[in-house]
Amino acid sequence: MIPPPNPGFKNPRAKFNFVGRTCSIAGVGSYVPAKVLTNADLEKTVSTSDEWITTRTGIKERHIAAPNEFTSDLAANAARLAMQRAGTTPEQIDLIIVATITPDMPFPSTACLVQQKLGAHRAAAFDLEAACSGFIYALEIAQQFIMSRTYDTVLVIGAEKLSSIVDWEDRNTCVLFGDGAGAAILRNRPNAHGLLTAVMGADGRKADLLFMAGGGSRCPATAQSVANRLHFLRMEGRETFKNAVQAMQTAAEEVLRRCEIDISHIKCIVPHQANRRIIDAVGQRINAKPEQFFINLHKYGNTSAASVAIALDEAVSCGRVQTGDLVLLIVFGAGLTWGAAVIEW
Ligand code: ACO
Repeated sequence: MIPPPNPGFKNPRAKFNFVGRTCSIAGVGSYVPAKVLTNADLEKTVSTSDEWITTRTGIKERHIAAPNEFTSDLAANAARLAMQRAGTTPEQIDLIIVATITPDMPFPSTACLVQQKLGAHRAAAFDLEAACSGFIYALEIAQQFIMSRTYDTVLVIGAEKLSSIVDWEDRNTCVLFGDGAGAAILRNRPNAHGLLTAVMGADGRKADLLFMAGGGSRCPATAQSVANRLHFLRMEGRETFKNAVQAMQTAAEEVLRRCEIDISHIKCIVPHQANRRIIDAVGQRINAKPEQFFINLHKYGNTSAASVAIALDEAVSCGRVQTGDLVLLIVFGAGLTWGAAVIEW
């Protein structure tokens, strides 16, 4: 049982002068492809074991998109569900932001392809690239547009087809990732509950911990780049792990400080779903109780920008998050990038 708020608890909403506007989350939705790839399946293709993957990461299985199913398809499916739950029509959407590192193609943006699939022809649309931190970056940008009165309704999506950039011969990485998408409709609703505040951070000095070298202007696709396997992601696992724990702790502490609340006021923590051990270490450092965390990485692996979006949707769907609860999102990804957000649900 999570203890009730401390005596003297002041709702953090009072701290933010929203002058009649609130960036409320009107609906969330998620989608994962049908095909499931289990640890036992991976044992047949690389030198690994269910035991190694489970003890080092907590992951048991992940979903893999079909060859003719692209990031924009996953994104549009998640978006349709979020729109339905929010009661939002395609014509009402002012802006679509898709956070992804696996766009359908370098250009046009996946957001434009999603706009076409949804028939949201009034909406501006762009992609955002902050790796696994992308969903919180996108939430924060959407909030800025809504609070500045530029837009009233923004569709934020985190979507990835990571299976298209995973090296299925590299056991260090191929066991970690999966495909999927999560979406949220953010809407101005005067004096409603909503996104309170978010923090974002980056450190480009550590860009070489997690990257994909090929396919950009530095190393365009050639027969040589394909032969050298440069179109697959590479990761320095141990260093990434250490940086993830540190950055997620810092981001969580900073966003709580800005809200003038402590961790005991948070009903549900939805962290980036990369590794169970990272989540446990962050929990210890921020003095959170294990039962405060919502974890679904055993089913999906690391779905990068989609990770917290899918987890948030599941936490809401299964009743772990109720109206009025304070929810803490914490993310970390390539870049390096990180972030945290507090939502009053
Ligand atoms: N099966 C069996 N053995 C393996 C496997 C595998 N799938 N993968 C690696 N190993 C081996 C290694 O080769 C190594 O063997 P060696 O000692 O003989 O060289 C041994 O296991 C231990 O490797 P470590 O790297 O020390 O394992 P570690 O405990 O650090 O776990 C892991 C590796 C799971 C990758 C961990 O480091 C991790 O989770 N890192 C963070 C990943 C992350 O959070 N990414 C977030 C951002 S993702 C994004 O932005 C897209």
